[in-house]
Amino acid sequence: MFDAIAPRYDVMNKAMTFGLDSYWRRRALGLARLRPGGRVLDLACGTGDFARLLAGRPMSPIGLDYSAGMLAAAQAGSAPLCQADAARLPFADGTFDGVVSGFALRNFSDLEATFAELGRILRPGGRVALLDVAEPRLPVVRQLHGLWFNTVVPRLGVFSSDPQAYGYLPRSVAYLPAPRELLELLERAGITSTRHHLLSAGVVQVLTGTRR
Ligand SMILES: C[S@@+](CC[C@H](N)C(=O)[O-])C[C@H]1O[C@@H](n2cnc3c(N)ncnc32)[C@H](O)[C@@H]1O
Repeated sequence: MFDAIAPRYDVMNKAMTFGLDSYWRRRALGLARLRPGGRVLDLACGTGDFARLLAGRPMSPIGLDYSAGMLAAAQAGSAPLCQADAARLPFADGTFDGVVSGFALRNFSDLEATFAELGRILRPGGRVALLDVAEPRLPVVRQLHGLWFNTVVPRLGVFSSDPQAYGYLPRSVAYLPAPRELLELLERAGITSTRHHLLSAGVVQVLTGTRR
């Protein structure tokens, strides 16, 4: 699916989020509190937005994604890219000072295995920031968001390279476990001091933590 939507992924992202996706990634990077000079993995990097942001800072980013199509469309600045499965990362233990990920949690078929890999490849003290969509709690925002996300966005899919794919979005949000469960999964993977942050009236969430 991601191979198919890759050519117009960035344009669709901007349209669906009114361009807020870049702001959310920058906020997530702030919450990550990454050490300058650190080696940082952009997990499920897609077209490389996080990797590019990191490459513009004093950091050593690497982008990783499963989809060859997304990697081919990626503009990740100077960051090297690699194709692999998030649940079986091709890196030695303790390789990274940080891991960031944008809008990918909903797509991991095995969250537990993926988080276990994060715990493995991070050095002790390494930081995690995982950004994804959320379901807002405030009733008015929830209603408007539901209308946009469940009704309008799937229809906007006709402008993408695979109209079916955008019908999958609402289902993928329903798949995502509740915040408490996500934090517990992270803790089980050796990530401590976990926190759950809501941005923009709760339409997106960021999970942060530190490798024990
Ligand atoms: C919605 S896109 C997000 C892309 C990018 N991180 C962003 O912020 O726009 C989700 C990405 O997750 C990738 N993905 C899904 N499952 C994966 C897995 N098991 N391993 C690596 N990447 C995966 C997809 O190929 C896709 O590029």
